[in-house]
Amino acid sequence: MHLPTGPQTPAFLQILRWVFSPMSYMEACAKTYGDTFSLKLDTNSDPIFFTSNPQAIQQILTSDTKELEAPGELNSLFEFLLGKKSVITISGAEHQRQRQLMMPPFHGERMRSYSQVITDVTAKVINQYQVGETLNIRSITQDITLRVIMQAVFGLDEGPRAEKLQELLGKLLEKGSSRLIVFLLYFPSLQRDFGPIDLWGQQMRLQAETDNLIYAEIQERRENPDPSRTDILSLLMAARDEAGQPMTDEELHDELITLLVAGHETTATALAWALYWIHKLPSVRQKLLAEIDDLAENPDSNTVFKLPYLNAVFSETLRIYPVAMLTFPRQVKMPISIGGYDLEPGTVALGSIYLTHHREDIYPEPKKFKPERFLEQQFSPYEYLPFGGGARRCIGLAFAQLEMKLAIVKILSSLELELVDNGDIAAQRRGLVTSPDRPIKMIVKSNLQVKSRSLETVAL
Ligand code: HEM
Repeated sequence: MHLPTGPQTPAFLQILRWVFSPMSYMEACAKTYGDTFSLKLDTNSDPIFFTSNPQAIQQILTSDTKELEAPGELNSLFEFLLGKKSVITISGAEHQRQRQLMMPPFHGERMRSYSQVITDVTAKVINQYQVGETLNIRSITQDITLRVIMQAVFGLDEGPRAEKLQELLGKLLEKGSSRLIVFLLYFPSLQRDFGPIDLWGQQMRLQAETDNLIYAEIQERRENPDPSRTDILSLLMAARDEAGQPMTDEELHDELITLLVAGHETTATALAWALYWIHKLPSVRQKLLAEIDDLAENPDSNTVFKLPYLNAVFSETLRIYPVAMLTFPRQVKMPISIGGYDLEPGTVALGSIYLTHHREDIYPEPKKFKPERFLEQQFSPYEYLPFGGGARRCIGLAFAQLEMKLAIVKILSSLELELVDNGDIAAQRRGLVTSPDRPIKMIVKSNLQVKSRSLETVAL
C-alpha cells in the first residue's frame, strides 16, 4: 500500500484537531503535504485518504462499484441520529432500492407544489418582524427551512403533533450539533447514559421522544389512508420497489428523519450565509436587487430559479463555505491507483469539498466572495461539488436550490436589512457540518411589503 503522507501525531491528537477545527486542519495539511494527504481519525484503523484534486475526486465518485463503494457502514457516525435503515447508513442494492423509492418527490412536477409552500412559509416567518428589530439570521432561516421541510414531508407545519415535532427537532439538532457530541461520536465507549445531567443520555431521550411522534404519525396514516395527499410521507407509503414491496415502518421512520435533518440544517445554514454575503457586500446586493426589480409583475418560480446573478450568488455561497466539508466516504474494494497512490482494499477515501473550493488554481482569490466567477466560467462537477456526486449525490439538490432562491427573493423584496456590524464571520464546525462562527445579526431598516411581488408557481 502506498498512502500519501500526513501528520505523524498520535490519532487522539489528530481527532481532537479534526473535531475542533476541521477546516484549518485540512488547510494546514494541504499546505504541508499538497492536495492529497492522509489523516488518522480512528484509533483502530488505517489512515484516511483525503484529496482535493479534481481528477482524483472524479475517480473516487465515479469508479465502478467493484473498485470503490460508498458503504453506509462508513456513515455510521450518522446512525445515532438517522437510524440503521436511512438511505445514508445503508449500502449496495438496499441503498439503490431506497434511493429509487425516494427520488420521485424530488423531481420536476413534484417541485411545483413546494414553490408556493416556500414562498408562503418565508412570508409567514418574516412578517413577524417589525422595523427596528434586531434579528439573528440563522434562527430565521432555520425557522423557514424547518417549516418548509415539515410541510413537504408531512403536509403540515401546524397542529399539536407538528408543533411538538418541530420543537423536538430544533432541540435535537441544537444539542446534536455540539462539538462535544461529535467528540463522543469518535469515541463510542464514552457514549453512555450517565443520568439526567448527561449530554449523550439527553440526546438519546430527545431522540426517543421524536421517534415516538414519527411512528405515531405513520401509524395514523396507515389507519386512515388518504389517497389525495401529496406529501412525501404519503408518496413513500404508496411507493413499491421492483418486487412490489412497500417500505417497512422502520424504513419509513429512518427516511423521514433523514429528510427532516438533511433537508433543514444544511439549507438553513446556506441561506444564512447567502443573506450575510448579500448584506456584507453592497455591490452584490445592488446587482441582485436590480435583477429582482427587472422581474415582471408576479414572476413564476421557474424564472426566479434561472436568474443568472441570483444563481451566481447561490453558487458562490456554497463554494466559499460549503455546508458539507466532505463527500461521504468511499471505500476501496479492489487495488486501485488514485492520484498516483496505490490504494489497497479497505482504504477509506474522502473528497474534501472545502479544500477543492479553495484551490487557488481553480478559484483565484479563493477567500473572496465573487459571484462573477460563476458568470465568467463553468466549473466541472469535480471542481465544484457542494452536493457531492456519483451514487450518493445529494437527493435534495434541486429542492435546496429552489428553496434558497425563492426565500432570498422573498426576503429581499419584503425587508430592507442591515448587518449590525460589518466584522468578518468565518465558518466553524457545527455537528457534522459547518456554520457561521458567531451569530449573523441584522436590523430591519424598513418593510418593503408594498413593493413585494407574489411569486406564482409553475412546473420547473
Ligand atoms: C444547501 C443544502 C444542502 C447541501 C449543501 C447538501 C449536501 C450534501 C452532500 C455533500 C451529500 C453527500 C453526497 C456525496 O457524498 O456524494 C448529501 C447527501 C444527501 N442529502 Fe443533501 N445537501 C443539502 C440539502 C439537502 C436537502 C434539502 C435534502 C432533502 C430534503 C437532502 C438530502 C440528502 C440525502 C438523503 C443524502 C444522502 C444521499 C445518499 O446517501 O444516497 N440534502 N447532501
